[in-house]
Amino acid sequence: MQKTTHMKKWLLMLAVASFMLGYVSCSNDNDETSASLALIPAPQGVSVKAGHFKLTRRAAITLDTSNPELIAIAQYFNNKIVPATGFDVPVEKHGKIEFKLTEDTSLGTEGYHLLVKRGDITLTANKPAGIFYGVQTLLQMLPPEIKSSTKQENIDWTIPCADITDKPQFPWRGMMLDVSRHWFTKEEVKKYIDELAEYKMNVFHWHLTDDQGWRIEIKSLPRLTEIGAWRAPRVGQWWQRERQQPGEETSYGGFYTQEEIKEVLAYAAERYVRVIPEIDVPGHSVATLVAYPELACMKAPDAVNVGNKFYGEDENTLCIGKDFTFEFMDKVLTEVAALFPDEYIHIGGDECFKGFWHKCPDCQARMKAENLKNEEELQSYFIHRMGDLLKSKGKKLIGWDEILEGGLTPDATVMSWRGMEGGIKSAKAGHHVIMTPSEHCYLDLWQGEPSVEPDTYSMCRLKDAYSFNPVPDGVPADMILGGQGNLWAESLPTFRHAEYMAWPRGWALAEVLWSGPSKTNWEQFYPRVEKHFERAYYAQINYARSMYNAIITSRYNKEGILEIKLESEPGNLDIYYTFDNTDPDNFTPKYHSPLQVPKDATWLRVVTYRDNRPIGKVITLTIKELEKRAGKRE
Ligand code: ACM
Ligand code: ZN
Repeated sequence: MQKTTHMKKWLLMLAVASFMLGYVSCSNDNDETSASLALIPAPQGVSVKAGHFKLTRRAAITLDTSNPELIAIAQYFNNKIVPATGFDVPVEKHGKIEFKLTEDTSLGTEGYHLLVKRGDITLTANKPAGIFYGVQTLLQMLPPEIKSSTKQENIDWTIPCADITDKPQFPWRGMMLDVSRHWFTKEEVKKYIDELAEYKMNVFHWHLTDDQGWRIEIKSLPRLTEIGAWRAPRVGQWWQRERQQPGEETSYGGFYTQEEIKEVLAYAAERYVRVIPEIDVPGHSVATLVAYPELACMKAPDAVNVGNKFYGEDENTLCIGKDFTFEFMDKVLTEVAALFPDEYIHIGGDECFKGFWHKCPDCQARMKAENLKNEEELQSYFIHRMGDLLKSKGKKLIGWDEILEGGLTPDATVMSWRGMEGGIKSAKAGHHVIMTPSEHCYLDLWQGEPSVEPDTYSMCRLKDAYSFNPVPDGVPADMILGGQGNLWAESLPTFRHAEYMAWPRGWALAEVLWSGPSKTNWEQFYPRVEKHFERAYYAQINYARSMYNAIITSRYNKEGILEIKLESEPGNLDIYYTFDNTDPDNFTPKYHSPLQVPKDATWLRVVTYRDNRPIGKVITLTIKELEKRAGKRE
């Protein structure tokens, strides 16, 4: 007895030791092999094995055919592979690929376990959403040609053998699209949803109204879309556009009928994407006031805004003094709440200029009657009433962090965009928070050297998106639902350009939000991004290669001499430059340390190379521009 126990102990120790050894070698293996799979977002646990599974029509998928969600996921998988492979994988009784729901609650509602062996694949999850995310992983393990919309010949459709256990860090992994500043069709919106779902994002925030267009049919308020959805056509710089002229046709715009919205909602639901509508009030309301001038404080503007130039001149806020405003909001939110199944409705609340309220007799009367000290409290009063209205319809309110001003509405969820401060304060006060600080999450900003980027402002590089941590120290982590990328559309005249701005920064956010900020590793991330460029190429999805362009910074040193620093975002590109007005290449000087400007030079030209081939754009900056960027001499 004694001896057996001793033996057992010894055996146990041996087992533990070999497990630990196995674990160590497996985790060593991990980095290298997970890199070889190039999955975005990186899964929580991967071990790649020798060999592969060959995907053919004969593989067949087995699942519980009484579960329509599993059948729909198999259909989704087939829709993704048929164009490139030319075959589908039917659902059959004894297939080699099994989708299986289990009682494994450790996987949560979105986690999955994917085991790929030479002869079969088993994908298990606690809920269908987990099966859907396992399918995304499986699709990413196929060669990049799988993304093509035309049949690809002579490709081995193989999936490397692997054992993957995965689940997300955050429940809210979002991407916003502004469809007001520029109009995107229903099909384009679907494409955006499809693209974000492939990276395991699960929230589509739909910014449906703003000064430049009201985009959702409200049946009880038809002028919102008859009038508010249309503006004069303009191209060129958003901030420089000429107002709509008298008699000019309002030919630019569009809106979604409620039937079209239902179609988008069904499409999103098939991809396990929640859709959060935003009705941006009480500011950002030029289009609304043009449609229903009774909502203005004193004088409604006479045309939907074509750009961003007229703030503080044209009224763009709903009057909080008039009862009509609350009747209007009741009608809007009743229809929105009936249409959108999600528990949340976003009511905006951002950047509300309060100058008109200050001058408006009705607003001032409301402040007096409600004992409100200032216009901030008037905004808070309005948001409170919107919170009550939504509650009566079984919905919860989300607002931008300005809703903190004048007192936060009970139960409101805060979307923090002006940095993290509003989010931190709200989380500490017991409110749920979605972090979207502009410095990490604003996908409308430049993503590389501005002189070679399409027009916009400020900077949010791929690395800035990737270094996002939605849970700063000292914040109650359980109050942070997650984060999202915000794609504002002031400078997005086409959907193709929207994609350019969304990817790869959206992939970086997808990884932060799924894998978790503690798991991120830039050195391993950008090579995976490069592999996804290839996938995007086959899919004909636009993306930005801005990370390859040199980062050029200038400053005055202690002696007051201009010094120029050249870097690359990947960190390992070769950078060549000229000051002599010739094109830089790998035979012109190579950058090693900060440069000083040779006498009489007018321009600096810079280009990045990898393996003796150009990879970034040629950047040309005047020395004057570099002086300007350097700021004042010390
Ligand atoms: C915002 O960017 N105005 C939320
Ligand atoms: Zn007013």
